[in-house]
Amino acid sequence: MRGFSLVNLAFTAAAATNLLPFSAATPLVTRNNVSKRSSPIAPKVVIISMFEPEAAVWWGIDEFDLLGQNITIPGLSPLFPEVHCTASGEVCQIITGESEINAATTVSALVLSPEFDLTKTYFFVAGIAGVNPKVGTLASVTFAKYAVQVALQYEFDMRDIPSNFTTGYIPFGVDSPDLYPQNIYGTEVFELNEALRDIAISFASTATLNDSTTSQAYRALYAQEAAYAVAAQPPSVLGCDVATSDVYYSGTHLSEAFENTTRIWTNGSGVYCATAEEDNATLEAILRAAKMNLTDYSRAIVMRTASDFDRPPPGISEIQNLLYAHQGGFPPAIRNIYLAGVKVVTGILEGWESTFEKGIKAPNYVGDIFATLGGEPDYGQPADFITKRDLSLRATKPAFQGNLRMKRAMVSAKRRAAAARALGIEV
Ligand SMILES: *[C@@H]1O[C@H](CO)[C@@H](O)[C@H](O)[C@H]1NC(C)=O
Ligand SMILES: *[C@@H]1O[C@H](CO)[C@@H](O)[C@H](O)[C@H]1NC(C)=O
Ligand SMILES: *[C@@H]1O[C@H](CO)[C@@H](O)[C@H](O)[C@H]1NC(C)=O
Ligand SMILES: *[C@@H]1O[C@H](CO)[C@@H](O)[C@H](O)[C@H]1NC(C)=O
Ligand SMILES: *[C@@H]1O[C@H](CO)[C@@H](O)[C@H](O)[C@H]1NC(C)=O
Ligand SMILES: *[C@@H]1O[C@H](CO)[C@@H](O)[C@H](O)[C@H]1NC(C)=O
Ligand SMILES: *[C@@H]1O[C@H](CO)[C@@H](O)[C@H](O)[C@H]1NC(C)=O
Ligand SMILES: *[C@@H]1O[C@H](CO)[C@@H](O)[C@H](O)[C@H]1NC(C)=O
Repeated sequence: MRGFSLVNLAFTAAAATNLLPFSAATPLVTRNNVSKRSSPIAPKVVIISMFEPEAAVWWGIDEFDLLGQNITIPGLSPLFPEVHCTASGEVCQIITGESEINAATTVSALVLSPEFDLTKTYFFVAGIAGVNPKVGTLASVTFAKYAVQVALQYEFDMRDIPSNFTTGYIPFGVDSPDLYPQNIYGTEVFELNEALRDIAISFASTATLNDSTTSQAYRALYAQEAAYAVAAQPPSVLGCDVATSDVYYSGTHLSEAFENTTRIWTNGSGVYCATAEEDNATLEAILRAAKMNLTDYSRAIVMRTASDFDRPPPGISEIQNLLYAHQGGFPPAIRNIYLAGVKVVTGILEGWESTFEKGIKAPNYVGDIFATLGGEPDYGQPADFITKRDLSLRATKPAFQGNLRMKRAMVSAKRRAAAARALGIEV
């Protein structure tokens, strides 16, 4: 989610007490050390919503009834304790709760749950987001190829930024904002199946998008700035990339800095258009499960509809744009999750036998910056690819000069390695 947070969360934890009885009649099977029920629910599509408005837009629709069964599994958000599914189990929905930690823990709980078989499931992240006026506009529907965790960096307050720096964000392990990070955590960049993304775009493009007169008026203000020409156009369906950050950043300078981060970290191919708080976390959980063949990472789709601009039009202040201006994008962005998203879900269901059951082959690299699922990322440093790097060497590399916390981590890794060696364990 990104957008208005003045939201009444209608769900209560009371629903959590409605536990499904554990039935000893459905035996467990062990698969890669995760015990799965032998006939678990095998959804064709799981819709991933982040908060109540994004979720509720799918309820009471004509196409399918997501409230046909509710399944309680351990590890979900206390606000959203159940997975919702159609009676047939073909389509399900989880609500992660907002931000990276909620997304990672909720999706991990789902992918490891014995109640579900997700080996052929399409994961459809469908939420709202902030939008870059250079690439899109309010109520537009975006589909990402890259998800970038842009705030995974050092950060200075603006008053402490060296005079020759263009931003207070500096990637880990380097000393200038425009360098490729050297200390990689693994969640910085995720690449998705481009062929599947393009099919989703073609399905969504058959929808008539919703709009509001308030957003038409706010959008028109961007026409005065040539770089923002597309922001003044009506909403559309487009392919462009999503930034993930727990910090709800706003404003011209930070937005431009993260535009740069997206471009640099994807080695020039990522185009930042949407900003949200969860996608990399969700993708990380799907990817880890894919490593154990519990999910198929090439079946993940990230759709974000634009609820607000990340930076103001000419004549409006940064703080006005963030907190006080009536941008009018929230209602149509929520509506368009359903209008565009339902075309994607029904497209997958209708083409299941002919196309989607067997999967869509990715023409591009899919996965993370570590190459966890194999292959060769078209971004990142080859030394960080799991296939290439020597894990034992990393622990004994000469001490890092500079950052104290990283230095301490290095020292403690060395100490652990020495202790292991003393016990005769090979390191
Ligand atoms: C499963 O657990 C067993 C025993 O703990 C272990 O030997 C095996 O390597 C594990 N398999 C996987 C795929 O993790
Ligand atoms: C599932 O939960 C929703 C509320 O979260 C409720 O409206 C619906 O009736 C429940 N469905 C069933 C089958 O109990
Ligand atoms: C998040 O995922 C996107 C797309 O999958 C990727 O492009 C991006 O680099 C990731 N960012 C972070 C910081 O993990
Ligand atoms: C800024 O100036 C410092 C000191 O003069 C220099 O070491 C550094 O490389 C410069 N950084 C950038 C991003 O220009
Ligand atoms: C957008 O949706 C709202 C609420 O359903 C509706 O009142 C309005 O007429 C729709 N506008 C357009 C342009 O579709
Ligand atoms: C983004 O990158 C461009 C081109 O390298 C540079 O001119 C600009 O100052 C950068 N912006 C920020 C905010 O770092
Ligand atoms: C996952 O499937 C692949 C291809 O069938 C197989 O090579 C690999 O060993 C499997 N991994 C696990 C952890 O079962
Ligand atoms: C991506 O760019 C970085 C920094 O320029 C470079 O070190 C790295 O080798 C590039 N990765 C690939 C896969 O081209």
